[in-house]
Amino acid sequence: MRKIHIVTFGCQMNKLDSELAAEALVDAGHMVVPDEHEADTVVFNTCSVRDHAEQRALSRLAGLRGRRLADPDFRLGIMGCFAEREGRELLRRLPYLDFALGTRQFPRIPEVLDELDSRPGDAAKAGRFGEAEEDFPGIGRAHPRGRRRGIQGFVSVMRGCGNHCSYCVVPNVRGGELSRRPEDIAAEVRALALAGTREVTLLGQNIDAYGKREGANLAALFRLIDSEAPPETGLVRIRFVTSHPRDITRELVEAVAALPRMCRHFHMPAQSGSDAVLARMRRGYHRAEYVAKLTMIREILPDSGIASDFIVGFPGETEEDFLATRDLVEKAAFRNCYIFKYSPRPGTPAARELADDVPDGEKKRRNRELLAVQNRVNRERGLRLVGNRLEVLAEGLSARDADRWTGRTGDNLICVFPAPPEGEDLTGRLIRLEVESATPLTLFCRRL
Ligand code: SAH
Ligand code: SF4
Ligand code: F3S
Repeated sequence: MRKIHIVTFGCQMNKLDSELAAEALVDAGHMVVPDEHEADTVVFNTCSVRDHAEQRALSRLAGLRGRRLADPDFRLGIMGCFAEREGRELLRRLPYLDFALGTRQFPRIPEVLDELDSRPGDAAKAGRFGEAEEDFPGIGRAHPRGRRRGIQGFVSVMRGCGNHCSYCVVPNVRGGELSRRPEDIAAEVRALALAGTREVTLLGQNIDAYGKREGANLAALFRLIDSEAPPETGLVRIRFVTSHPRDITRELVEAVAALPRMCRHFHMPAQSGSDAVLARMRRGYHRAEYVAKLTMIREILPDSGIASDFIVGFPGETEEDFLATRDLVEKAAFRNCYIFKYSPRPGTPAARELADDVPDGEKKRRNRELLAVQNRVNRERGLRLVGNRLEVLAEGLSARDADRWTGRTGDNLICVFPAPPEGEDLTGRLIRLEVESATPLTLFCRRL
């Protein structure tokens, strides 16, 4: 039996994969421990989306080099997107790395640990990469058993990505699009709800394309989940990410509107406000079409929150292109914006064909400027909300302040409120709050 500690980088898909890896390890009789110092095996679940993410993983790995080399029983491994992209090479290059598991192989982690333990000496290495069988539990179509714990849970509805945005490494490292069966997804949501999950987030890189090739569809999936995991199971909220502006439909938004437990929140990345840049990104829509989708969502659900992602400093992005993006952020009143500096990814069309010609200082300036615009949007919204009454799912103690708790509204506003008195556990309960004051990212509230 090993004591394993998993460190997760990257997006929600990676967080879910870490939970699934932990489930596989516990099933095999191992222990998953929250403290790195207690562990005899440390695994980094890595991200490849920008160079910076890979560098962070490498430096954390190097930080454990001494411990690994001093202790022949200690094991160091990687999984996730960087493991898929570079795992073979890293196993060769880093004497202190014992194993690497790709994005469709990580549930095999117990098998790999056994394999290493069964080999003589401590210089053995193991790697698993590439495709897995379609019905492989956790990563293929088949559903995991839904035994994970927590008031918030992730469920993947599909794996991989069928798009080819020119800058993006995800299709390379996570493979093509594969949708799970609706009945398997609904059964997993139901099992999680019965085990105490109150809010489920359905995950897909382009979730609106769910089931396209298999004859299923996302609106129908929402309705199936709603009936298979009714309120009596304890499930109070259903979220879903990420929406692609080209694929989100009126039918889908109407399905959200018809189901009260579906959160009124959309994450629909625009990436740029300039048509020339969108074309080079191969996003498959123009700015006007993006704005039309925003308008459509708000016509059907006027109070919904819509979040977006932007990349600044994409190859060839002129000041005029950037101003078009800034103008979109000023006008769109996003709930939130995630802004990234372009990072060329090996193996992507943009890295092959387009020079990374916007200097880093300029990328930083554009990043700062967009953040400042979004900050202003958030501040103004916060001020408007003072005095309003909101319903939040209480999540627990605030990380910043031991006297306060945090929670979020369905449309993803972050609220803090005074901690309940000792003995009253609000975790996972829907509670009513009134907004008293606001900063750009947080609403300070009192309980009603
Ligand atoms: N599937 C999601 C997002 C995947 S990656 C979608 O299509 O929206 C998350 C975000 O990282 C992207 O939305 C994009 O804004 C950013 N990103 C992806 N590749 C990048 C790169 N090479 N450089 C900088 N940011 C990138
Ligand atoms: Fe990457 Fe585009 Fe797929 Fe999102 S939709 S994961 S940005 S290729
Ligand atoms: Fe997610 Fe990073 Fe992989 S964003 S899909 S963990 S490359």
